[in-house]
Amino acid sequence: MDAPIPDLAERAAECAERLHDADGVVLASHIDADGLTSAAIAASALERGRIPFETVFSKQLGEDEIAEIANMDRDVVLFTDFGSGQLDIITEYEQSGDITPVIADHHQPADAETEYHLNPLLFGINGASELSGAGASYALARALEPEDGDNRDLAALAIVGAVGDMQASGGELVGANRRIVEEGVSAGVLEEATDLSLYGKQTRPLPKLLEYSTDVYIPGISNDERGAMGFLDDLDLDLKADGDWRRWVDLTDDERQTVASALVQRAVSRGVPAEKIDGLVGTTYSLTAEPEGTELRDASEFSTLLNATARYERADVGLAVCLGDRGDALDRARQLLRDHRRNLSDGIEWVTSEGVTREEHVQWFHAEDRIRETIVGIVAGMAVGADGVDRGTPIIAFANKTDEEVKVSSRGTHTLVREGLDLSAVMGEASRAVGGDGGGHDVAAGATVPAGTEAEFIELADEIVAEQLS
Ligand code: C5P
Ligand code: C5P
Ligand code: C5P
Ligand code: ZN
Repeated sequence: MDAPIPDLAERAAECAERLHDADGVVLASHIDADGLTSAAIAASALERGRIPFETVFSKQLGEDEIAEIANMDRDVVLFTDFGSGQLDIITEYEQSGDITPVIADHHQPADAETEYHLNPLLFGINGASELSGAGASYALARALEPEDGDNRDLAALAIVGAVGDMQASGGELVGANRRIVEEGVSAGVLEEATDLSLYGKQTRPLPKLLEYSTDVYIPGISNDERGAMGFLDDLDLDLKADGDWRRWVDLTDDERQTVASALVQRAVSRGVPAEKIDGLVGTTYSLTAEPEGTELRDASEFSTLLNATARYERADVGLAVCLGDRGDALDRARQLLRDHRRNLSDGIEWVTSEGVTREEHVQWFHAEDRIRETIVGIVAGMAVGADGVDRGTPIIAFANKTDEEVKVSSRGTHTLVREGLDLSAVMGEASRAVGGDGGGHDVAAGATVPAGTEAEFIELADEIVAEQLS
């Protein structure tokens, strides 16, 4: 069999075989874009393989959630996009004979081992930049080999998951993810192109596309509604149709070229550094089966739509969209997206207006109840580089979870990771020292800690980061 990721092929085949032998499967997945696409890939493959299953989602897998899942009385539990970090707990249930776990994940594994564990990190592949949970699930789906077809069509969802986990943050997907892109292209479900890298090319009217795109900050355009419109008005192009602004997707190649060149010129003339300007262009991934001008056409916009459902307790809506529901589920997801965007922009505004507190090696803020704990990590990541938030320092964010528990999210950069930063270890060690737990990836990680331990947590995190970067 030709496997998409040769290093994972043997383990994927073993996992697939165990699933084929199962009497019943619980499919358990994480509530974000990568978790939803993982679940959709696994669900499609199980369905096509005629393996009976039911799906559950969890915000965070802990003792209680694992106990509940084990109580569902199916012999096999397929964990996707989580499970590795909780392997110590999961293997207890395995040893007592309650369940056989099959895990397709990309998070840092806890200190335990199990037979059906499909994780890129076990095979020398980076789980933060080369393969996501959806990618691991895709490797499994390909190994499940249905009677008709080969599941290559599921590559599109795997790419939405990878992009949703910010694995294309350097502009394009690399490593094992590239193999999945190639399979998607050859299956006719994906298209890859070099294009403007701004978020919203499918759905945002041109002025909004420019105004809201702040990753590459262009003075007089970014965060400047009138400036963005003025810039477009000054171009010798007809950028309106029936009085309404057109979108990037509506432009011809020539028109795009004109806008992009003018944008680069403007950035140069305003003194934006060259390496920042390079970031204006990147690789985009389009889902060819989806209509142009919709959120579903672009992997980045699709992943945001999914986060807008799952992070607000409506994983069912996002899953239905992934599985092809273009009626009620898509309508509902679009409503949720409007709220999600407002929450993100309110959150970023709050962070930048309040400012962050700087320690020696980390910077942090505590949103309390002002930002939902399920999106505080996204907000922290988006705030980096904004006014007063330093790009060269890891950011740690707190938000209240319950009266007793506080959610922690942390984000770094690939540059810091190359210098030794490992936020997964920071979150894990510091949280356990104050009676909580955490983990994740080197570049992005999270934890839950008891309320009231934040100051101690920050002090510990600051020390650990200092050691890592020394
Ligand atoms: O749980 P999971 O692995 O899906 O989440 C990964 C998180 O890490 C996402 O919220 C993603 O935005 C974040 N991330 C990041 N920068 C990176 C890689 C991942 O902020 N370079
Ligand atoms: O597309 P990407 O995963 O990089 O976006 C990360 C988050 O930032 C998404 O949840 C998306 O909603 C949001 N975003 C946005 N507007 C932008 C850039 C990102 O809403 N200009
Ligand atoms: O929740 P947040 O977006 O900050 O999560 C960042 C990364 O850390 C994700 O990959 C998430 O799965 C992981 N995480 C974890 N354990 C926690 C919280 C988050 O492994 N307790
Ligand atoms: Zn993931």
